[in-house]
Amino acid sequence: MSANENTVESFRETFRRDQVWPFLTPAQTKVNVDNQMILYVEDLNLSFDGFKALNNLNLYVNDGELRCLIGANGAGKTTLMDVITGKTQCDSGTVFFGQTHNLLNKDEAAIAQLGIGRKFQKPTVFEEQSVFDNLELSLKTDKGVLPTLFSRLTPTQIDRIDEVLKIVGLAKHRFMLAGALSHGQKQWLEIGMLLAADPRLLLIDEPVAGMTPQETEKTAELLTSLAGERTVIVVEHDMEFVRSIARTVTVLHQGSVLAEGTMDQIQSNRDVIEVYLGESEIAEGEEV
Ligand SMILES: Nc1ncnc2c1ncn2[C@@H]1O[C@H](COP(=O)(O)OP(=O)(O)OP(=O)(O)O)[C@@H](O)[C@H]1O
Ligand SMILES: [Mg+2]
Repeated sequence: MSANENTVESFRETFRRDQVWPFLTPAQTKVNVDNQMILYVEDLNLSFDGFKALNNLNLYVNDGELRCLIGANGAGKTTLMDVITGKTQCDSGTVFFGQTHNLLNKDEAAIAQLGIGRKFQKPTVFEEQSVFDNLELSLKTDKGVLPTLFSRLTPTQIDRIDEVLKIVGLAKHRFMLAGALSHGQKQWLEIGMLLAADPRLLLIDEPVAGMTPQETEKTAELLTSLAGERTVIVVEHDMEFVRSIARTVTVLHQGSVLAEGTMDQIQSNRDVIEVYLGESEIAEGEEV
């Protein structure tokens, strides 16, 4: 064997195509949660043509928490998620991920790379691809669809997809076209696509809208099971669902936090009652 062939051989042994090259794997982001807090939102303001969508908003979320955000249409819930994920720029305020990552000076891609996953209300899965392929694509979104489909998965990546399929309850449907899934299953697949990237913080906007009661119940179990290891912030109008998953609920009103506490505290909070329901209480299943 020539010296050149030797070099090529040793290169092949060192860098196998079926293994991820260390320099290509993103460095594990360190998120400083020494204060138990993973998200700090302070004095956030954002106006659209003079209309204050976010108005001195303050929100602190503990690491591993499952937090529910509620509030009437237009309260600023989605806009808040837009600012946290870099989709929209705010006018003033601060947003920190852990103690050290200032999210306001980062773009959407950099924020996702830090370990913040976001799910929009409408499922956005690739309908013509199988459930498994959707998860594969989500592992490699930065490389484009075509090269991704023709590159091989590492055993670790296959294990990760299998694990995610189990978590979201779609293991039996791995070969099914995503387009053939029910609405609820598509939502779980999309949550799985976020999980494949192993995020520290998940922002989920109205996950159970349009779901059957059984699907809603399964989604509650799924989101509850994700908290602890991850932090999950869920926006939802379905009060029965919120009651079933929430430990702490934050109520937004006109771009500010109106109240925060357990569901029982929220339901008996005078400000909440006045704003939404006059003197009556928030009934279970009622839209807020
Ligand atoms: N890009 C935009 N341009 C102008 N106004 C906007 C924009 N995005 C949001 N708004 C306005 O900001 C306010 C807050 O909207 P947002 O979507 O955050 O409410 P929400 O709490 O998510 O409501 P919903 O429960 O209906 O989803 C609304 O009055 C909305 O019309
Ligand atoms: Mg919204």
